[in-house]
Amino acid sequence: MTVKVTVTGAAGQIGYALLFRVASGQLLGADTPVKLSLLEIPQAVKAAEGTAMELDDCAFPLLRGIEISDDPAKAFDGANVALLVGARPRTKGMERGDLLEANGGIFGPQGRAINDNAADDIRVLVVGNPANTNALIARSAAPDVPAERFTAMTRLDHNRALSQLAGKLSVPVTEISKMTIWGNHSATQYPDLFHTEVGGKVAAELVEEEWLRDTFIPTVAKRGAAIIEARGASSAASAANAAIDHVHDWVNGTPEGDWTSAAVPSDGSYGVPEGLISSFPVVSRNGRWEIVQGLEIDAFSRERIDASVGELVEERDAVKALGLI
Ligand code: NAD
Ligand code: LMR
Repeated sequence: MTVKVTVTGAAGQIGYALLFRVASGQLLGADTPVKLSLLEIPQAVKAAEGTAMELDDCAFPLLRGIEISDDPAKAFDGANVALLVGARPRTKGMERGDLLEANGGIFGPQGRAINDNAADDIRVLVVGNPANTNALIARSAAPDVPAERFTAMTRLDHNRALSQLAGKLSVPVTEISKMTIWGNHSATQYPDLFHTEVGGKVAAELVEEEWLRDTFIPTVAKRGAAIIEARGASSAASAANAAIDHVHDWVNGTPEGDWTSAAVPSDGSYGVPEGLISSFPVVSRNGRWEIVQGLEIDAFSRERIDASVGELVEERDAVKALGLI
């Protein structure tokens, strides 16, 4: 069956790094034909048309069509996977409330369009920032879609954490398993090494406490800002790569004996208020994310998880006050 993948913000920099990989089969697997639906704002439709011409010119064997629209109802019609990348960036003089409100104006209508038009098996990944709260807004606007189908991306943070640890221990990333990012995709996120394993040993016991606290955690949590500082633009190819990883694992399952990180609606696990879209250790089984249960959380981790979850509660309360959820 051909899978319809809708990508919003298709003419942006992540879109450009993402679409060719989706069309080549890396999102869903080498046996799954895909149809792409590109959603853009009217001013960027022409640029999306240019990207579509390039996609055509690759003659990808799995690509069965490209549609371009500035109408969410059309773009999400029959969609099986929705990658919500387009978002309103924070500009000079904008307060946090303004940012949340501007994004509410995007993710509310898109959630409604998904609710009314997407296929029954729709899976949504929100990449556009503030990703967790944008996902919450979209989910609230889609009451007929099971809540678990709305997720936000922390896989980039997860991959960053794997690479930082691999570099520190001079091991390939393939030696590392059970990495976890908790909380919000923001500088408050908590990359947890107390359950991570490296060659069967607990990662936190293989590194100095000072490195873990003062180097590892801030490097991972502030990596997005470091890339903006260095590139003059936010991460694009690595963000697209993480989106591919997230959806690939959601659809095809996570490897036995390992888990990954994704922001999924909380069921109350680990004291995270029910309904918040927060990052957890997750496995994917039979096409569904499941939160890994039973991990012991010590005081060091508890404090950091609570801080990031506290920020998500504040964002949720702010969008509630604005009438966006
Ligand atoms: P970009 O500015 O290059 O592209 C964004 C695109 O979205 C633009 O083409 C714009 O026209 C489009 N857009 C805006 N509003 C839209 C709407 N209502 N419908 C459809 N399209 C719309 O930005 P980018 O570098 O591609 O980044 C996109 C988002 O991803 C940003 O919010 C960025 O902060 C976020 N991001 C998230 C992560 C993560 O790990 N979760 C990582 C990197 C970037
Ligand atoms: C990232 O983590 O690279 C981005 O979310 C940073 C940003 O603010 O766009």
